[in-house]
Amino acid sequence: MTSPLTTPLSDDPTVVQRILDHIDHQTTDMSEASWREPLAHYRSEERYAAELALVLRRYPTPFCPSAALPESGSYVARDAAGTPILAVRGSDGRVRAFRNACRHRGTQLAAGSGCSKAFVCRYHGWTYGLDGALRHVPHEHGFPGLDKSSRGLVPVETTERHGVVFVTQEEPRVADTCIDELPELIAPSLQLIGVNEIDVSANWKIVVEGFLEGYHIRPTHRETFYPVQFDNLNVVETFGRNSRIAFPYRRINKLRDVPPAERSADGMLTYVYHLFPNAMVATFPTNVVMVVIEPLAIDRTRIITHALTDRRDDVDGRAALKGAQGFVEAGAAEDRAVACAIQQGLASGANEFFEFGRFEGAIVHFHRGLYEAIDGTRPAAILPKAHTA
Ligand code: FES
Ligand SMILES: [Fe+2]
Repeated sequence: MTSPLTTPLSDDPTVVQRILDHIDHQTTDMSEASWREPLAHYRSEERYAAELALVLRRYPTPFCPSAALPESGSYVARDAAGTPILAVRGSDGRVRAFRNACRHRGTQLAAGSGCSKAFVCRYHGWTYGLDGALRHVPHEHGFPGLDKSSRGLVPVETTERHGVVFVTQEEPRVADTCIDELPELIAPSLQLIGVNEIDVSANWKIVVEGFLEGYHIRPTHRETFYPVQFDNLNVVETFGRNSRIAFPYRRINKLRDVPPAERSADGMLTYVYHLFPNAMVATFPTNVVMVVIEPLAIDRTRIITHALTDRRDDVDGRAALKGAQGFVEAGAAEDRAVACAIQQGLASGANEFFEFGRFEGAIVHFHRGLYEAIDGTRPAAILPKAHTA
């Protein structure tokens, strides 16, 4: 199962020009077709299990930003697709991830994040190096024939690219050529300034979909994003299974006075990179956020938001950052409320499918990717019968 890769992403001057043209013509990017996604795919435990087994555990899945593991011994432990995972940067600078359980009687070795020289199990003190090797067993003579070299932490395939750490839990792994094709997502100059976790009562795909279109900007974000952004005006690009959506700010009109080749998108738009299947990297004028959308159950999702900036150390930067974080959080709260309202509506019996229109092309791309992974096909559109009762 490989995905065809598309052309590389456009440069800033091209994206800016497409946006200015859309402003002039009151248009937006539109996908070739709309898409009807069966409601059963949000309610079926079987489908949910397939998403975990065939997508979230087999594809390279964003785990955390590289900046969350800044030095030797830095670690992050959390569940990914229901599996406790511990990622740590070794003394050789390499990030490795392991199944987070002691090889004696299974106690979890670490929780949350921190920095450590080794992992010492709190139960009986088995001790593992940053490379996962079992280094020490207290009173080792009680384990005749124990081969320590075969009882290191169980590794999980780990790749660090473009400022993001990816893990792939299960075989057969899906080829990671898409990772190679990604642009630089999180520049090395950015530092992690905070991680925030919020649980919402909604299916993980509903939460993902909320990031992927600008058709809802005015109705949902009337007092937050809409005053500074356009409603339903986006540039949508796909690369591999991933996509990038540009959400322009109204001040982008100032770039009309700048020679086209010199137009930078910095401060003029938000790029949302959707890293298939369940992460977003979004750019803002003073900061970048990486959001991991972690399924906890079919109707419950943890949203893990990492905030990164290179302006932490200057006073003006800190003030701007505070304002920006409040702004983004206000909009994010509105998206969470809508996600929960959609989840509530699932039980209404009103719909047999959700219809994603031609403004919502990045969502169509997301569902095509899921179809490819789960059903082995990549339909142009799926059209279940309309509900007629
Ligand atoms: S369970 Fe970890 S040392 Fe016993
Ligand atoms: Fe939104």
